[in-house]
Amino acid sequence: MNCKKAEFNLSSEVTYLNCAYMSPLMKTVKEAGIMGIERKTNPFMVSSEDFFNESDKLRKEFAHLVNCEEPNRIVIIPSVSYGMANVAKNLNLNSDENIVIIGEQFPSNVYSWMEIAQNARAEIITIPGPDVRENRGKLWNEQILDAISSKTKLVATGNIHWTDGTIFDMKAIRKKTRDVGAWMVIDGTQSIGALPFNIDEIQPDALVVAGYKSLMGPYSIGMAYYGEVFDDGNPIEQNWINRFESENFSNLVNYNDHYQPGALRYEVGEHSNFILVPMLLAAIQKLNEWKPENIHNYLIDLVEEPISKLREHGFWVEETKYRASNLFGVRFNKHHSMDAIKKKLMDANVLVSYRGDAIRISPNIYNDSKDLAALVTTLTS
Ligand SMILES: Cc1ncc(COP(=O)(O)O)c(C=O)c1O
Repeated sequence: MNCKKAEFNLSSEVTYLNCAYMSPLMKTVKEAGIMGIERKTNPFMVSSEDFFNESDKLRKEFAHLVNCEEPNRIVIIPSVSYGMANVAKNLNLNSDENIVIIGEQFPSNVYSWMEIAQNARAEIITIPGPDVRENRGKLWNEQILDAISSKTKLVATGNIHWTDGTIFDMKAIRKKTRDVGAWMVIDGTQSIGALPFNIDEIQPDALVVAGYKSLMGPYSIGMAYYGEVFDDGNPIEQNWINRFESENFSNLVNYNDHYQPGALRYEVGEHSNFILVPMLLAAIQKLNEWKPENIHNYLIDLVEEPISKLREHGFWVEETKYRASNLFGVRFNKHHSMDAIKKKLMDANVLVSYRGDAIRISPNIYNDSKDLAALVTTLTS
């Protein structure tokens, strides 16, 4: 697979290695958004079928991306916090149970658990990143598995860590959660699209993904999958479109006690956003055309040599087996100063993020070896 820079309009004046902050938009995605605005300019261009068809297409496209056989288990959400709130509402946590999360997890995958744990007087067990450099990823994964017990009701993690790309072993966590009867909920925001993910293989209870990072869509729209444990549950809001036969606009005030099938009751009100839905659809169509496996392999090749060079210069990056290629943290020795590094990268127009004690590098399919060389030269000079 080749670099796809030509599909984007990224400024040539910067080296953008910051997809974990926000991806740029592809040209086709921008066009889809402009088309959406055009349609609302003349509202007769929006038909009543469009309220359903486009969301349906988006669910199917995302289902394909994550290898889910049942598109009506996929719903459109505005944010990760929304997707997690639906989980929290249905967990029925008791005081002698616990929730296991990972240290420094993204807040949208923490606050919902804090609220229900506080209300139930239940415990949250947080597994921090081990304070070592050797075998850090391996140890961290072992400690997470050790923390899951028969008292665990929920394990809520990312499949990679959002600050430094540490990979968490989803299969092993799923096995352990099944053994103890706990739910498994995954925040896939920082990798889905760039790292293959297979719902049918992992079978999480929920997968929640914001659309504006590795999915390459716009802001304020994302996707969630809810498994069978949610089938008879309660959504956090009651909206008209999630009710059975809402397609029949003239019958809406004959209020219906039943929901649309699968997990559709958990979808956000006004999910048929005529600007954001076509944009995210256009983005995921491209990802499916390129295929996450190919994007993943492209990124593995792209970062391998630059990471070796950084290591030769004393920087620390997690070993390959336990780190993503679309997002990795670079840590340094005491004689390096974070402020000096920030200034150097900024002066060189190399755009990255800083999270905790790591420089967060997050390339994607629009980056090429020159971009990574700019990073390495700036950090090592
Ligand atoms: C791992 C992760 N999850 C979720 C989000 C965004 O959450 P929300 O959609 O609730 O704003 C981010 C944003 O940086 C993130 O890094």
